[in-house]
Amino acid sequence: MAKRLDGKVAIITGGASGIGASAVQLFHEHGAKVVIADIQDKLGHDLADKIGENVSYIHCNVSNEDNVRNLIDTTIAKHGQLDIMYSNAGIIDGVVSRILDCTKSDMERVLGVNLVGAFLCAKHAARVMIPQRKGCIIFTASATTAIAGISSHAYAASKCGLLGLCRNLAVELGQYGIRVNCVSPYAVVTGISGPMNEADSRNLEMALSDTSLLKGQVLKAESVAKAALYLASDDANYVCGLNLLVDGGYSVVNPVLMNFMNKQSGN
Ligand SMILES: NC(=O)c1ccc[n+]([C@@H]2O[C@H](COP(=O)([O-])OP(=O)(O)OC[C@H]3O[C@@H](n4cnc5c(N)ncnc54)[C@H](O)[C@@H]3O)[C@@H](O)[C@H]2O)c1
Repeated sequence: MAKRLDGKVAIITGGASGIGASAVQLFHEHGAKVVIADIQDKLGHDLADKIGENVSYIHCNVSNEDNVRNLIDTTIAKHGQLDIMYSNAGIIDGVVSRILDCTKSDMERVLGVNLVGAFLCAKHAARVMIPQRKGCIIFTASATTAIAGISSHAYAASKCGLLGLCRNLAVELGQYGIRVNCVSPYAVVTGISGPMNEADSRNLEMALSDTSLLKGQVLKAESVAKAALYLASDDANYVCGLNLLVDGGYSVVNPVLMNFMNKQSGN
């Protein structure tokens, strides 16, 4: 297998679980030295120990600037460079909520991790990438950046804000050779879906797959990690400011009119 990240150093936030954990595994397989940053210390340490060489864990709450500063400085002290900042940590406040049920604290909590956390990661990564005059910043946004009504207001606001941040950063950081992109998945069953047994998790995956345009496929965390690998690698050396949707085409379809016409014609 050609190693697509040979010699590169990557930080992956939210790397202890789900999409982040898949990216840790995949980036490592492709030759990167990986620093997992998360708040789930046991999961993060266990994953680093399981993979072994060249993967380490640092406790980092991405909403806390001192934690993020320490994450970057420790990575530089250990590896001497930072090539990839994959800002992936995120939370949800509920599946779909009504504005009257959404509290100010819900909004602030979700924005605090998904948007402010990502901003802090990008800022401190840029601090070391600008003098290097190269680097790559990737955010996990969401299909909610391309289609409305599939998440809570707080989550949609956080991810649409993240896409705005990504594009604005791409404008500023391009002059230093730093690429900034988003990977935006449709629903994937991960830790964010809440605790569930294997059968329930499989059933949810199948139900989500049924809602997709692309039949015969189930979206897994690994597929999102593969899209992030592409953005992180030199294969994407001229890709900057992109919102790479990994949604099986979900966001290009609005079935309302077609469903209405089918109903009218008795289909
Ligand atoms: N699973 C989905 O359906 C889906 C769809 C679109 C986008 N996303 C996004 O993908 C990203 C990864 O989510 P996932 O699905 O793998 O869920 P997950 O819960 O399995 O992983 C998220 C990780 O982020 C960590 N985290 C949460 N708050 C943190 C903080 N303050 N500081 C550091 N780490 C923190 C968690 O501990 C966890 O390990 C998130 O940004 C999420 O919004 C997920």
